[in-house]
Amino acid sequence: MPQFNENDLTAAVVKSFESTPNPRAKFLLQELVKSLHDYVRRTDLTFEEWEYAIEFLTRTGQKCTPIRQEFILLSDVLGVSMLVDAVNHREREGATQTTVLGPFYVGEHKQMPHGSDISPHNVTGEKMFVQSRATDLAGKPLAGVPVDVWHADDDGLYDSQKPSYATHGPTARARFVTDGDGRFFFRTILPCSYPIPTDGPVGEMIVQTRRHPMRPAHVHFLVNAKGYEPLITHVFIDGDKYIDSDVVFGVKDELIAKVEERSDPKMPDGKEASAPWHLMTYEFRLKPGGGMAPKPMAARESEPA
Ligand SMILES: [Fe+2]
Repeated sequence: MPQFNENDLTAAVVKSFESTPNPRAKFLLQELVKSLHDYVRRTDLTFEEWEYAIEFLTRTGQKCTPIRQEFILLSDVLGVSMLVDAVNHREREGATQTTVLGPFYVGEHKQMPHGSDISPHNVTGEKMFVQSRATDLAGKPLAGVPVDVWHADDDGLYDSQKPSYATHGPTARARFVTDGDGRFFFRTILPCSYPIPTDGPVGEMIVQTRRHPMRPAHVHFLVNAKGYEPLITHVFIDGDKYIDSDVVFGVKDELIAKVEERSDPKMPDGKEASAPWHLMTYEFRLKPGGGMAPKPMAARESEPA
């Protein structure tokens, strides 16, 4: 029977993966073992703490549903999502900066005509017109590109977090396809800063560790042009109280937009504005390349493991 001391044990577990056929999987597993073992040694982890960690991860998994992803949230608040983003986007060459996907990209977005109101049931939010364009690095417009957009309501919740999701279906969430000049535009309401869900293990950890759970107001965009790297990003609203302390560390200066307050009687597409409104203008520059856009959770769940 082999007898292992603290350090021999790590070497033995690393060696146990030696025959893994996929070299990348072998590397990832062996490095994971080294990091985990190192953590246990450095912290002198107790049995109670180990049990707590197992129970915490179990609850995190149990909280997940087809429209809620507690593990992405955990990755986000620990800064892992932004770190993966950073190591994969070291050189942007003038392309728009990227940020986290977040846990609320929940399903295929329905294509809507330009100018559509994507928050038609909202009666309390202040109206906002979003005008945007997708180009390559030289500023050449990219036509026919699907762009998914989604954001929280003025009560700080995404459609998928509300009971009305069952009756109204998706709101503040749509897909637009850029026109011949790379442009797309739509109406919605001004989103506000919002807390990540605090009714699960991740939110409980944030509260118990005296961190605040807030994200500054933003609109999510996923621009997916053929022949270009999929662009996963947000546009943040300048002046938000939480712009410097995003709970998921997702803010980058370049992604902050000045949203203008407007009182013109007509919006940029010539249609009447019934009350003062806001104008968000932002252009996306895409980097040539490939890669897969993330699949919505519902699609992932229907795939075989
Ligand atoms: Fe968000």
